[in-house]
Amino acid sequence: MSNGVIETDVLILGAGMAGLTCALSLPSELEILLVSKMPMPTGSTYLAQGGLAAAISEDDSFKLHLEDTINAGGGLVNEEAAIDIISAGPRLVRQLSSWGVNLEGSFGKGKSGIEGGHSVRRVLHHKDRTGRLISEVLSECSLERGNITVMEGAFAVNLLTASREMPELVENAVDRCIGAHILQNGTILTVLAGETVIATGGSGKVYRYTSNQDSSTGDGIAMAYRAGLPIINMEFYQFHPTCLFHPDKRNFLITEALRGEGAVLLNLEGERFMENYDPQRMELAPRDIVARAIDSEMKRLGNDHVLLDATHLGREKLTISFPEVTNGVTSVGIIPWEEPIPVVPAAHYTVGGIDAQTDGKTAMNGLRAIGEASCTGFHGANRLGSNSLLEAGVMGLKAADSIPGTLMDPDSFHARDWSFGRAEPLMENVLVDYAWSALRNVMWDYVGIVRSDRRLHRALRIIDVLAGEIEADYWTMLPVIGLLELRNICTVGRIIVKSALRRRESRGLHFSLDCPETKQPPRDTVIKLML
Ligand code: FUM
Repeated sequence: MSNGVIETDVLILGAGMAGLTCALSLPSELEILLVSKMPMPTGSTYLAQGGLAAAISEDDSFKLHLEDTINAGGGLVNEEAAIDIISAGPRLVRQLSSWGVNLEGSFGKGKSGIEGGHSVRRVLHHKDRTGRLISEVLSECSLERGNITVMEGAFAVNLLTASREMPELVENAVDRCIGAHILQNGTILTVLAGETVIATGGSGKVYRYTSNQDSSTGDGIAMAYRAGLPIINMEFYQFHPTCLFHPDKRNFLITEALRGEGAVLLNLEGERFMENYDPQRMELAPRDIVARAIDSEMKRLGNDHVLLDATHLGREKLTISFPEVTNGVTSVGIIPWEEPIPVVPAAHYTVGGIDAQTDGKTAMNGLRAIGEASCTGFHGANRLGSNSLLEAGVMGLKAADSIPGTLMDPDSFHARDWSFGRAEPLMENVLVDYAWSALRNVMWDYVGIVRSDRRLHRALRIIDVLAGEIEADYWTMLPVIGLLELRNICTVGRIIVKSALRRRESRGLHFSLDCPETKQPPRDTVIKLML
């Protein structure tokens, strides 16, 4: 085991749409190190089925897209950020096309889709494999670029900050990021960078059931929190209304685009229950409303799922336009043109995150946060489907635009080597496994779609105990990814609970039985570690 030092102009942590778009848009004179925890293509982008929302058709406008985003966002949308992101949609679509990603519904090509809360068709897509196409093409492009070095199977452990390593670089009490410690093959590398970009995605693994990949462990959010950055609005965790209910394929997403094409929700008594919750918009109401309606029907009837009936679409349409869903459900014996699909809500999207501007700027010099790891306020208290790929791509472009061509020379930085001290190998995996499932269960059972103070306080007490044990393991065991991810996801779970307790109202994705009213004026929830 040996440590080493690497210097680079820009260090990008994460290889989903945000990280890749940023890497590909930076000038070729800059040396970029792109660190991916998993082999590429990867990340939540890869799993995105529905698509990318962009107002480019003749019957659409930025104004209409903004209105829909604001209406869904529970009064908390940052309008400036939303205008910035929405109006950059056409540029992003053209840029994607120049890299080889041509989506249905984009300029002169095919028909766009529609999802809940969108008043017109504006979801650009590639059948129901939109994210897969974007991930594959952008990953390939990045591997071909001479100025991008890709490091796969590497895990960012902690940010390196001037306040800890080079206090002389702290300017007017504003800290500077100078890189990160990266774990690869049991070695911890010190990576020094002129600019560091967190694009590590969301944190779906904090819940027992999630549509996310196993790698969605909130690493960037936890790292930023430990470095003293403000983390905002984490109580707004989005549950996707329709994931497959099946013991062997529990995480499988059933795209909202199916409801866009007329699929209907039924309870196990065969009633189209959305009539009782949102009679105007029915199945295309915003996600917070649909997920809560499903939760309420399941609790009312004592069932563990509801049904999504897409049989009217027929075999040909389902096979051609929705191959991902069709393959997924037929592989477990469900024939979607003959029978309804059993579905249940599952954790899907981290609406809150590291407080950032639309170009990723954070409260720390030399550090940006983009995509799902960040929170610009674009989604407010509830995200519209397919607005996240738009945000990820636009933030990637804008971050690349605003990263200065001449950065601080990483050669002038120095940081302490990682010290292994007397750390020992983790011999008892049961310690990590138990804490993982305890955390995910407590989050699911006590911090889910509908919350109460009693459950939230209980969750916090349990998580505090787990956090103490995990921290003790972290300081005494040699670093392995499972333990580091657990530490991160526990931090994120704790922030979600603390944020939820702090919001004394119900708004968007946060619904509290103890505070059912919405209060004015709308406020962000800020959680910050005092260093
Ligand atoms: O339903 C979906 O295809 C998901 C889209 C999204 O979360 O943006």
